[in-house]
Amino acid sequence: MRPTRFDFRAALVPLAGIFALLLVPGATASAQEQDEEYLQRGENVFERQCAACHSLGGGDLVGPDLAGIMEKRTREYVRRFILEPNALKAEDETAREVGERFPSAMAPIMLSDENMEALLAYLEAMSDVEIELEPEEVAQITDELIEKGRAIFLGTSRLEHGGPSCISCHNVAGDGGLGGGNLGIDLTDAYRRFTASGNPNALLTTIQNPAFPMMREAYDDKPITEEEALALNAYFASVSDRSPEDERGWGELFLILGVLGGILFLGVFDFIWRKRFTAVRKPLVEGARR
Ligand code: HEC
Ligand code: HEC
Repeated sequence: MRPTRFDFRAALVPLAGIFALLLVPGATASAQEQDEEYLQRGENVFERQCAACHSLGGGDLVGPDLAGIMEKRTREYVRRFILEPNALKAEDETAREVGERFPSAMAPIMLSDENMEALLAYLEAMSDVEIELEPEEVAQITDELIEKGRAIFLGTSRLEHGGPSCISCHNVAGDGGLGGGNLGIDLTDAYRRFTASGNPNALLTTIQNPAFPMMREAYDDKPITEEEALALNAYFASVSDRSPEDERGWGELFLILGVLGGILFLGVFDFIWRKRFTAVRKPLVEGARR
């Protein structure tokens, strides 16, 4: 019998196995990290470019809830809806129907290829998010909440985390009069506009997660609490039947009053002046007669 020779090749197999086992967890960890970084990039793009109008699982806002969008639609559809929504709507039945369901339309958004890929990967990763809000969870609107929300809006009641009051940048017709900020948008009919697409909590979600750069900055480290958001939501619901033009209405009234006042003033002045004129002329004329 020949002495068994040590077979290097046979020994290599388990060795390679052990080696692979040592390497693989390391390899997946760094791939995971890369993945996370990539998804983070996608999330940033979403927050900056999409979240003002779309939620992921929070219900419809200005545009539809995008949870599960990558399963409902093709990648190409989503890409084109971002880059050229109007061209897509002209060609694609589904896109046209979505367009008809929402009162406002999405404008084209230019993204670099890398940002687009990261965004699509993020939307894919978020595809199993369920729409969180059930109809029975519609935010409450009570008198108490309305009053509280009004005080927060006007700044008579301070925000818990010390964020600036809304009135420093916003306006609501009939409240805060002429003192409202000119920086932001008029919020009188915000509740109506946000809930028009059918999600009664659309404004609430927006207040809790404002996607407008200036507001994000103002509240980034001084977040609005859920209670405060609920109160503000109730307040906006209570004013949403006012017309944003109410304020302009007053302005116009003042203008008309001003013009009328001016005419009246001129009239009175004219009257007095004429009297004074005759008062001067009378003795002259009478003097001449003598
Ligand atoms: C200013 C608001 C606004 C912004 C910002 C916005 N969208 Fe939209 N989006 C809409 C509206 C409104 C619709 C509905 C239909 C339409 O455009 O006519 C829509 C529709 C869509 C649809 C079609 C959904 C479906 O069910 O077919 C996709 C996909 C989409 N948006 C993705 C995005 C992505 C991704 C971003 C960010 C890169 C984004 N949108 C930014 C308003 C917006
Ligand atoms: C530092 C200024 C600033 C403050 C403070 C601020 N906002 Fe805003 N807000 C903005 C800007 C800017 C926009 C974007 C408006 C636009 O795009 O025309 C905005 C947009 C909004 C919108 C969406 C408006 C729309 O019609 O699309 C809502 C709702 C809103 N803010 C609510 C609030 C509430 C509630 C508060 C107080 C808790 C608040 N904001 C405080 C600057 C501010």
